[in-house]
Amino acid sequence: MGRGPELATVDDFLDGLLDGAAALMVTGAAGIGKTTMWKETLAAARERSYLVLSTRPASPRRSCRSVAWGTCSTTLPTT
Ligand SMILES: Nc1ncnc2c1ncn2[C@@H]1O[C@H](COP(=O)(O)OP(=O)(O)OP(=O)(O)O)[C@@H](O)[C@H]1O
Ligand SMILES: [Mg+2]
Repeated sequence: MGRGPELATVDDFLDGLLDGAAALMVTGAAGIGKTTMWKETLAAARERSYLVLSTRPASPRRSCRSVAWGTCSTTLPTT
């Protein structure tokens, strides 16, 4: 609810991916809805038939972001 501007940003970001690689960082105070926005972004990407690889580090490794990237990169398709 009430996330029109943020969802518009997500739409612009997803449109822009057709022109090349990009990153979208979701930041904000605890409990403000970052994870919810992230999930909305994944759903919107899938609706566009984008290939979506998604991962999150488990709690003990939360501070080690490269672990999440490692998980994604090993599941990239080879074609
Ligand atoms: N736009 C919204 N309208 C109403 N409730 C929302 C909205 N976005 C998130 N919520 C609710 O607010 C709560 C916190 O959302 P969420 O877990 O996405 O926040 P977060 O920023 O990721 O939190 P944290 O900082 O703890 O990781 C959840 O119960 C979620 O359902
Ligand atoms: Mg969260």
